[in-house]
Amino acid sequence: MTGKFIGVGVGPGDPELITLKAAKTLHNADVICIPKANADKPSLAVTMIKQILEERAVEPEMLELIFPMTKDDMGNQKLWDKNANVIAQKVGMGKLVVFITLGDPMFYSTFIYLYQSLQKGHPNMDLEIIPGVSAFNACATSARMPLAEKDELVTVIPSEFDEKLVEEAAKCSENLIFIKCAYRLKELIPVLKRAGFKENSTIALIRRCSMSNETVTVGRLCDALNWNVIEDYFTIAIVKKNYIINNDKMGT
Ligand SMILES: C[S@@+](CC[C@H](N)C(=O)[O-])C[C@H]1O[C@@H](n2cnc3c(N)ncnc32)[C@H](O)[C@@H]1O
Repeated sequence: MTGKFIGVGVGPGDPELITLKAAKTLHNADVICIPKANADKPSLAVTMIKQILEERAVEPEMLELIFPMTKDDMGNQKLWDKNANVIAQKVGMGKLVVFITLGDPMFYSTFIYLYQSLQKGHPNMDLEIIPGVSAFNACATSARMPLAEKDELVTVIPSEFDEKLVEEAAKCSENLIFIKCAYRLKELIPVLKRAGFKENSTIALIRRCSMSNETVTVGRLCDALNWNVIEDYFTIAIVKKNYIINNDKMGT
């Protein structure tokens, strides 16, 4: 009996956005690994697969793996390697081990580090990756904002703001996607204006996309200064330089 490891993207929040392939894999898994930044916090990814778990005749082993969000690269590497070894041990026992991750596994995901540890420490392991719907795709549809058309450029800006970098990226992109740091959008507006974005360029702020408490706010860049922005990690901002919305499409 040979085991296998599968990294599965479970999408942005709505369980109906889990692909058929991911759902089938979760139905068959012997072990489901749940990445957590903190042992005490509940996992959002687990709530998304709740129905699949309830439908199963046999309960899988649920294995929580801690992946702290710190900048200690050496410490993190040790933990990723440790988690990779735990997975390798289960796979070595002939089990189908599935690791769930929000959105897509290969886009700004903890899965990437685990995958690299597995490749380094266990290069012969049978491994598969199943893509998921990324939050930025779902956010664009929730906001009814095309992400790009014709020969437009799209840039994704993660995490901490480096004003200079944002300005340079904004100068050569018609469409910007801010992840992780999106709730700090008011700090961005002057930078975007310096880079050629206009008062009436369009901005959308999408919070908790595809979840039951989703909020979507769309308006002009100049309006966003007056928005009441809640600090929430699950937020994306999409800004479009040349996309002008009508007044009747604005608001939440
Ligand atoms: C570490 S990244 C993970 C991205 C994920 N792998 C993907 O493909 O969407 C986390 C960031 O994605 C964005 N995000 C994830 N899920 C979201 C959602 N449902 N609504 C809005 N933003 C979301 C937020 O900007 C959050 O800070």
